[in-house]
Amino acid sequence: MDRNADAPWSKFDPEAYVDLNYRTPLEVDLLIVRLMRDYFSGCFANGVPDSVRGVDVGAGANLYPALSMLPWCEKVLLLEYARPNVEYLEKQASPAGYDVVWDPFWDVFGADPAYRRVEPRSRFGEIVRVERGSLLDLDGQRRWDIGTMFFVADSMSECPEEFQRGMTCFMDALTEGAPFAAAFMKESVGYRIGDQRYPAYRVNEHRVRESLTGFADGLEIHDLHHVVRPGHEGIILALGRRNSAVAAT
Ligand SMILES: C[S@@+](CC[C@H](N)C(=O)[O-])C[C@H]1O[C@@H](n2cnc3c(N)ncnc32)[C@H](O)[C@@H]1O
Repeated sequence: MDRNADAPWSKFDPEAYVDLNYRTPLEVDLLIVRLMRDYFSGCFANGVPDSVRGVDVGAGANLYPALSMLPWCEKVLLLEYARPNVEYLEKQASPAGYDVVWDPFWDVFGADPAYRRVEPRSRFGEIVRVERGSLLDLDGQRRWDIGTMFFVADSMSECPEEFQRGMTCFMDALTEGAPFAAAFMKESVGYRIGDQRYPAYRVNEHRVRESLTGFADGLEIHDLHHVVRPGHEGIILALGRRNSAVAAT
């Protein structure tokens, strides 16, 4: 069984990953963007507290989870383990601005007035910081007020304990009431990027719900039946708020 430490993260190719997944926006990602946009907008409909800090865990070469947090946050941290992805993200957050590949995703966010008020490219450069680190080292001491984690806890290891630990570490990194969005490849048997193979833990709606038991209020699970490559059966999106239970990690 491949554990997180066994996978070739130092060989992760972010450009090949973007080519495979995001360069041509897929219907399912645009649907996820709409669901996340409407969910976060609803959470902040009565006003945005001062100094909200956001985190995207295992950000990799995907900016749309971070874009979803721009209107609400004073700062956003992109936490990522693979060095090539850290370099990719640092370039995206540099003064040159992020790649045009992310514009179609912002166009969908921009249909909401709160997002439309933001100039995304300059704001991204101003408030986003990139840090190399492991989800599995988050120990509940550092906490954020809004968080996203896309295709990470299920897509970093074959080990059930590491999946649950990833979920626990993510939820324990959120303050009470923090809105979150997390996405999972349903029943994934692993994935390839270029000539490298990466592990996955097979999840379905039930496993995702179970993994969040005790951590979330108002949990919404969207079981999206879109298949984007061989070796999985759909995509699951979980939306909710961190409840008041004390951090377990
Ligand atoms: C399938 S990719 C998902 C990337 C991106 N979030 C997305 O939505 O496309 C899995 C990501 O998890 C990252 N990762 C793997 N192990 C990790 C760990 N222990 N802590 C944080 N990130 C990790 C990988 O480097 C990679 O960026």
